[in-house]
Amino acid sequence: MLRARNLTKRYRQGEAEITALDDFSYDFPPGATAVVGPSGSGKTTLLNLLAGFDRPSAGTVELAGVRIDELDEDGRAEVRLRNAGFVFQSWNLLPTLSALENVAFPLLLAGVPREDRNRRALELLDRMGLAERANHRPNQLSGGEQQRVAIARALALEPAVLFADEPTGNLDSAAGALVLDLLLEHATGERRLVLVTHDLQVAARAERILHLRDGKLVQVEES
Ligand SMILES: Nc1ncnc2c1ncn2[C@@H]1O[C@H](COP(=O)(O)OP(=O)(O)O)[C@@H](O)[C@H]1O
Ligand SMILES: [Mg+2]
Repeated sequence: MLRARNLTKRYRQGEAEITALDDFSYDFPPGATAVVGPSGSGKTTLLNLLAGFDRPSAGTVELAGVRIDELDEDGRAEVRLRNAGFVFQSWNLLPTLSALENVAFPLLLAGVPREDRNRRALELLDRMGLAERANHRPNQLSGGEQQRVAIARALALEPAVLFADEPTGNLDSAAGALVLDLLLEHATGERRLVLVTHDLQVAARAERILHLRDGKLVQVEES
Protein backbone atom coordinates (compact mmCIF):
# COMPACT_ATOMS: atom_id res chain seq x y z
CA MET A 1 0.00 0.00 0.00
CA LEU A 2 1.12 3.54 -0.77
CA ARG A 3 -0.95 6.44 0.49
CA ALA A 4 -0.33 10.17 0.92
CA ARG A 5 -2.56 12.45 2.97
CA ASN A 6 -2.33 16.26 2.92
CA LEU A 7 1.31 15.99 2.01
CA THR A 8 3.08 19.37 2.06
CA LYS A 9 6.73 20.29 1.65
CA ARG A 10 8.07 23.79 2.15
CA TYR A 11 11.64 24.82 1.48
CA ARG A 12 13.14 27.89 3.07
CA GLN A 13 15.33 29.98 0.80
CA GLY A 14 16.80 32.81 2.81
CA GLU A 15 13.81 34.94 3.80
CA ALA A 16 11.47 33.34 1.29
CA GLU A 17 9.62 30.05 1.60
CA ILE A 18 8.73 27.86 -1.39
CA THR A 19 5.82 25.44 -1.16
CA ALA A 20 7.18 22.68 -3.41
CA LEU A 21 4.27 20.32 -2.64
CA ASP A 22 0.92 21.63 -1.49
CA ASP A 23 -1.65 19.44 0.31
CA PHE A 24 -1.20 16.39 -1.93
CA SER A 25 -3.51 13.45 -1.16
CA TYR A 26 -3.67 10.25 -3.16
CA ASP A 27 -4.05 6.53 -2.54
CA PHE A 28 -1.88 4.82 -5.17
CA PRO A 29 -3.61 1.72 -6.56
CA PRO A 30 -1.59 -1.31 -7.70
CA GLY A 31 -0.11 -0.95 -11.17
CA ALA A 32 1.64 1.97 -12.84
CA THR A 33 0.94 5.59 -11.92
CA ALA A 34 2.66 8.34 -13.89
CA VAL A 35 3.32 11.77 -12.39
CA VAL A 36 3.63 14.62 -14.89
CA GLY A 37 3.92 18.38 -14.68
CA PRO A 38 6.16 21.25 -15.75
CA SER A 39 9.67 21.62 -14.41
CA GLY A 40 9.50 22.82 -10.81
CA SER A 41 5.94 21.52 -10.25
CA GLY A 42 7.05 19.28 -7.38
CA LYS A 43 7.42 15.86 -9.03
CA THR A 44 10.81 14.99 -7.54
CA THR A 45 9.79 16.43 -4.18
CA LEU A 46 6.75 14.14 -4.18
CA LEU A 47 8.84 11.08 -5.02
CA ASN A 48 11.38 11.87 -2.30
CA LEU A 49 8.58 12.11 0.27
CA LEU A 50 6.78 8.95 -0.88
CA ALA A 51 10.03 7.00 -0.77
CA GLY A 52 11.06 8.44 2.59
CA PHE A 53 14.25 10.13 1.37
CA ASP A 54 12.86 13.33 2.82
CA ARG A 55 10.31 14.26 5.48
CA PRO A 56 7.18 16.32 4.83
CA SER A 57 6.53 19.71 6.44
CA ALA A 58 2.99 18.43 7.02
CA GLY A 59 0.87 15.43 6.14
CA THR A 60 1.41 11.69 6.18
CA VAL A 61 2.85 8.91 4.00
CA GLU A 62 2.00 5.26 4.48
CA LEU A 63 4.31 2.83 2.70
CA ALA A 64 3.60 -0.89 3.14
CA GLY A 65 1.44 -0.18 6.18
CA VAL A 66 4.02 2.00 7.94
CA ARG A 67 3.71 5.74 8.65
CA ILE A 68 7.16 6.64 7.32
CA ASP A 69 6.70 10.35 7.98
CA GLU A 70 6.97 9.52 11.69
CA LEU A 71 10.24 7.60 11.39
CA ASP A 72 13.79 8.89 11.69
CA GLU A 73 16.31 8.43 8.87
CA ASP A 74 17.37 4.93 10.00
CA GLY A 75 13.77 3.78 10.32
CA ARG A 76 12.92 5.09 6.88
CA ALA A 77 16.01 3.44 5.38
CA GLU A 78 14.89 0.12 6.84
CA VAL A 79 11.35 0.41 5.40
CA ARG A 80 12.82 1.48 2.05
CA LEU A 81 15.20 -1.44 1.86
CA ARG A 82 12.36 -3.94 2.48
CA ASN A 83 9.65 -2.37 0.35
CA ALA A 84 10.95 0.05 -2.26
CA GLY A 85 13.22 0.16 -5.29
CA PHE A 86 14.52 3.21 -7.16
CA VAL A 87 15.54 4.07 -10.66
CA PHE A 88 16.69 7.66 -10.95
CA GLN A 89 18.26 9.33 -13.95
CA SER A 90 21.10 10.65 -11.87
CA TRP A 91 21.33 7.81 -9.41
CA ASN A 92 24.62 6.37 -10.47
CA LEU A 93 25.85 2.86 -10.17
CA LEU A 94 28.84 2.37 -7.92
CA PRO A 95 31.72 2.95 -10.37
CA THR A 96 34.27 0.54 -8.90
CA LEU A 97 31.87 -2.40 -8.76
CA SER A 98 30.92 -4.69 -11.65
CA ALA A 99 27.35 -4.83 -12.96
CA LEU A 100 26.86 -8.04 -10.97
CA GLU A 101 28.20 -6.50 -7.75
CA ASN A 102 26.01 -3.43 -8.22
CA VAL A 103 22.89 -5.58 -8.59
CA ALA A 104 23.93 -7.76 -5.63
CA PHE A 105 24.54 -4.73 -3.39
CA PRO A 106 21.01 -4.41 -1.92
CA LEU A 107 21.06 -8.16 -1.27
CA LEU A 108 24.32 -7.70 0.65
CA LEU A 109 22.66 -4.96 2.73
CA ALA A 110 19.75 -7.31 3.40
CA GLY A 111 22.13 -10.03 4.63
CA VAL A 112 21.63 -12.49 1.78
CA PRO A 113 24.52 -15.01 1.63
CA ARG A 114 27.06 -14.50 -1.16
CA GLU A 115 26.13 -17.49 -3.36
CA ASP A 116 22.43 -16.67 -3.23
CA ARG A 117 22.96 -13.02 -4.01
CA ASN A 118 25.27 -13.75 -6.95
CA ARG A 119 22.78 -16.24 -8.38
CA ARG A 120 19.91 -13.80 -7.98
CA ALA A 121 21.92 -10.90 -9.44
CA LEU A 122 22.87 -12.95 -12.47
CA GLU A 123 19.24 -13.99 -13.00
CA LEU A 124 18.18 -10.35 -12.93
CA LEU A 125 20.92 -9.27 -15.34
CA ASP A 126 19.89 -12.11 -17.63
CA ARG A 127 16.28 -10.83 -17.59
CA MET A 128 17.58 -7.40 -18.58
CA GLY A 129 19.53 -8.97 -21.48
CA LEU A 130 22.84 -8.24 -19.76
CA ALA A 131 24.16 -11.64 -18.67
CA GLU A 132 27.22 -11.12 -20.89
CA ARG A 133 27.92 -7.78 -19.24
CA ALA A 134 27.93 -9.07 -15.63
CA ASN A 135 31.62 -8.41 -15.07
CA HIS A 136 31.74 -5.01 -16.79
CA ARG A 137 32.07 -1.87 -14.73
CA PRO A 138 29.55 0.95 -15.34
CA ASN A 139 31.98 2.98 -17.48
CA GLN A 140 32.26 0.00 -19.81
CA LEU A 141 28.49 0.04 -20.45
CA SER A 142 26.26 2.27 -22.58
CA GLY A 143 23.75 4.62 -20.93
CA GLY A 144 20.88 2.26 -21.71
CA GLU A 145 22.80 -0.71 -20.33
CA GLN A 146 23.65 1.20 -17.14
CA GLN A 147 20.00 2.07 -16.68
CA ARG A 148 19.04 -1.61 -17.10
CA VAL A 149 21.63 -2.54 -14.46
CA ALA A 150 20.03 0.10 -12.23
CA ILE A 151 16.62 -1.52 -12.81
CA ALA A 152 18.03 -4.96 -12.00
CA ARG A 153 19.45 -3.50 -8.79
CA ALA A 154 16.11 -1.84 -7.97
CA LEU A 155 14.32 -5.18 -8.42
CA ALA A 156 16.82 -7.25 -6.44
CA LEU A 157 14.69 -7.38 -3.30
CA GLU A 158 11.39 -7.63 -5.22
CA PRO A 159 10.05 -4.32 -3.93
CA ALA A 160 6.33 -3.75 -3.47
CA VAL A 161 6.83 -0.24 -4.84
CA LEU A 162 9.20 0.83 -7.58
CA PHE A 163 9.94 4.56 -7.87
CA ALA A 164 11.37 5.99 -11.08
CA ASP A 165 12.29 9.64 -11.65
CA GLU A 166 12.77 10.49 -15.34
CA PRO A 167 14.22 7.00 -15.91
CA THR A 168 14.33 7.39 -19.69
CA GLY A 169 15.44 11.03 -19.64
CA ASN A 170 18.94 10.71 -21.10
CA LEU A 171 18.36 7.66 -23.30
CA ASP A 172 17.65 7.47 -27.03
CA SER A 173 14.14 6.33 -27.93
CA ALA A 174 14.96 2.63 -28.47
CA ALA A 175 16.86 2.32 -25.17
CA GLY A 176 14.17 4.39 -23.42
CA ALA A 177 11.39 2.15 -24.73
CA LEU A 178 13.16 -0.97 -23.44
CA VAL A 179 13.75 0.58 -20.01
CA LEU A 180 10.08 1.58 -19.84
CA ASP A 181 8.93 -1.93 -20.79
CA LEU A 182 11.06 -3.41 -18.01
CA LEU A 183 9.67 -0.97 -15.42
CA LEU A 184 6.06 -1.56 -16.47
CA GLU A 185 6.59 -5.32 -16.45
CA HIS A 186 7.28 -5.12 -12.72
CA ALA A 187 4.00 -3.31 -11.94
CA THR A 188 1.70 -6.33 -12.06
CA GLY A 189 -0.44 -7.96 -9.38
CA GLU A 190 -0.23 -6.02 -6.12
CA ARG A 191 2.98 -4.23 -7.09
CA ARG A 192 3.16 -0.52 -7.81
CA LEU A 193 5.25 1.68 -10.04
CA VAL A 194 5.38 5.45 -9.53
CA LEU A 195 6.86 6.92 -12.68
CA VAL A 196 7.83 10.59 -12.82
CA THR A 197 8.26 11.91 -16.33
CA HIS A 198 7.86 15.07 -18.36
CA ASP A 199 7.22 12.94 -21.46
CA LEU A 200 3.47 12.52 -22.07
CA GLN A 201 4.02 9.55 -24.38
CA VAL A 202 5.87 7.75 -21.59
CA ALA A 203 3.13 8.71 -19.11
CA ALA A 204 0.43 7.35 -21.42
CA ARG A 205 1.81 3.84 -20.88
CA ALA A 206 0.81 3.99 -17.20
CA GLU A 207 -2.70 3.13 -16.05
CA ARG A 208 -3.28 6.59 -14.66
CA ILE A 209 -1.62 9.98 -14.82
CA LEU A 210 -1.39 12.49 -11.97
CA HIS A 211 -0.93 16.08 -13.12
CA LEU A 212 0.99 18.40 -10.80
CA ARG A 213 1.02 22.16 -11.12
CA ASP A 214 2.75 24.47 -8.64
CA GLY A 215 2.92 21.62 -6.15
CA LYS A 216 -0.79 20.83 -6.38
CA LEU A 217 -2.48 17.72 -7.72
CA VAL A 218 -4.74 19.29 -10.34
CA GLN A 219 -5.96 16.27 -12.29
CA VAL A 220 -6.10 12.47 -12.11
CA GLU A 221 -6.49 10.97 -15.56
CA GLU A 222 -7.30 7.27 -16.10
CA SER A 223 -5.71 5.99 -19.29
N1 LIG B 1 16.30 21.23 -1.67
C1 LIG B 1 15.57 22.28 -2.10
N2 LIG B 1 15.70 23.50 -1.54
C2 LIG B 1 14.96 24.55 -1.96
N3 LIG B 1 14.05 24.47 -2.94
C3 LIG B 1 13.87 23.29 -3.55
C4 LIG B 1 14.61 22.12 -3.16
N4 LIG B 1 14.21 21.09 -3.93
C5 LIG B 1 13.26 21.56 -4.76
N5 LIG B 1 13.05 22.89 -4.53
C6 LIG B 1 12.07 23.75 -5.21
O1 LIG B 1 10.80 23.11 -5.10
C7 LIG B 1 10.07 23.24 -6.31
C8 LIG B 1 9.75 21.86 -6.85
O2 LIG B 1 10.95 21.22 -7.26
P1 LIG B 1 11.00 19.72 -7.83
O3 LIG B 1 10.22 18.86 -6.92
O4 LIG B 1 12.41 19.39 -8.07
O5 LIG B 1 10.21 19.88 -9.21
P2 LIG B 1 10.19 18.94 -10.52
O6 LIG B 1 10.80 17.63 -10.16
O7 LIG B 1 8.74 18.84 -10.88
O8 LIG B 1 10.96 19.68 -11.56
C9 LIG B 1 10.94 24.08 -7.25
O9 LIG B 1 10.54 25.41 -7.12
C10 LIG B 1 12.33 23.87 -6.70
O10 LIG B 1 13.14 24.96 -6.99
MG1 LIG C 1 12.40 16.56 -10.99
